[in-house]
Amino acid sequence: MKDVRKDFPILNRTVNGSPLIYLDNAATSQKPKEVVDKIVEYYYKYNSNVHRGIHTLSEESTEMYEGARKLISDFIGADNPREILFTKGTTESLNRIAERWVPANLKRGDVILLSDLEHHSNIIPWQKAAERIGAEINYINTDDNGEITIEEVKKMISDKVKLISISHASNVLGTIVPIKEICKLAHDKGIYVCVDGAQAAPHLKINVQSLGCDFYAFSSHKMLGPMGVGVLWAKEKILKELEPYEYGGGMIDEVSFKNAAWAEIPIRFEAGTPNVSGAVGLGAAVTYLSNIGMDNIRNHEIELSKYLLEGLKEIKGINIIGPREADKRTGLISFYFLNIHSHDIASVLNTLGIAVRSGYHCAMPLHNKLNIPSTVRVSYYLYNTKEELNTLLNGIKKALDILS
Ligand SMILES: Cc1ncc(COP(=O)(O)O)c(C=O)c1O
Repeated sequence: MKDVRKDFPILNRTVNGSPLIYLDNAATSQKPKEVVDKIVEYYYKYNSNVHRGIHTLSEESTEMYEGARKLISDFIGADNPREILFTKGTTESLNRIAERWVPANLKRGDVILLSDLEHHSNIIPWQKAAERIGAEINYINTDDNGEITIEEVKKMISDKVKLISISHASNVLGTIVPIKEICKLAHDKGIYVCVDGAQAAPHLKINVQSLGCDFYAFSSHKMLGPMGVGVLWAKEKILKELEPYEYGGGMIDEVSFKNAAWAEIPIRFEAGTPNVSGAVGLGAAVTYLSNIGMDNIRNHEIELSKYLLEGLKEIKGINIIGPREADKRTGLISFYFLNIHSHDIASVLNTLGIAVRSGYHCAMPLHNKLNIPSTVRVSYYLYNTKEELNTLLNGIKKALDILS
């Protein structure tokens, strides 16, 4: 893979007197110059509201916004750009389905199936939706290797299950979930599948059509794009039948003092002035990722996972969670020590310029189920190196010397 570090100006800064080692990519990734430049260019040359004006700037801005939609549609292998809805991010995308699709398609006594490795954003919206209609929520359990097996999914499926909402990749265990097999199983029984792709879209080559899911949600900021924008992809047929979730300017065909009729999809789902620069920035991000090649990124991360798993195993008293095999994970490893709090380890690492995440990582039910107080999560991306992981490993040993 080409040397990408020079594309990320932030990697040149120091933190607490040491070169920054940024290993908190599962929380948010850094942004390459191309993405930031594109956003600046948008504001300097094209800024104007979209879908509203007939003047040149508005037309150019609309072209950029819709151009970004096409880039993202191609990036995830959607059938067409009308299936791409811009949202604030994964959380909003999942809430939208729970708020609008669930009441129209599920009834009292139906079951929504989640898994035990879910992020809070893929639990709470369903809890609230289920509460409102009297549906039930059941959970698919991970096995001892932190994996979701198809046998376990089969066990949980019944005639009452109407929707499975599941992560494509875990933000704590790193586990890659067999979405394609789950979709096949579900669709044979008429069950819909919603995928939380927040931790997968940055790392894996996604093709929503070959995965066979019905909904796919992801966030720009975890995949080199700006914050405040994300995507909800859904099959066109589903979107055409779905009630808009917000009402106002930009999403209508006709309005009278009495009522209103909606514009075509996807515009009917984007009421009000959208985050145009965000969409344009995400378009630049997926272009950057495609130019590097998702396969190259994946191979680089597997290399780093192998290297780090080996290195961490040497550390006395460490407990690593998630799959033991590097190729069954995305780019992250979480671990803990009995009697040493993860925040203390992260604090010592921070004094060395190393950024990692500590705590529950918005997956409290999983931590409670595993009976783990909290974990340190090291998450890497295309710009991280083995040299950085060596510094991390020395940093963890230093932290243990201080804290033990
Ligand atoms: C698996 C998973 N789902 C959902 C989210 C929520 O993403 P966002 O905060 O961008 O909406 C995250 C963020 O960490 C995540 O890791």
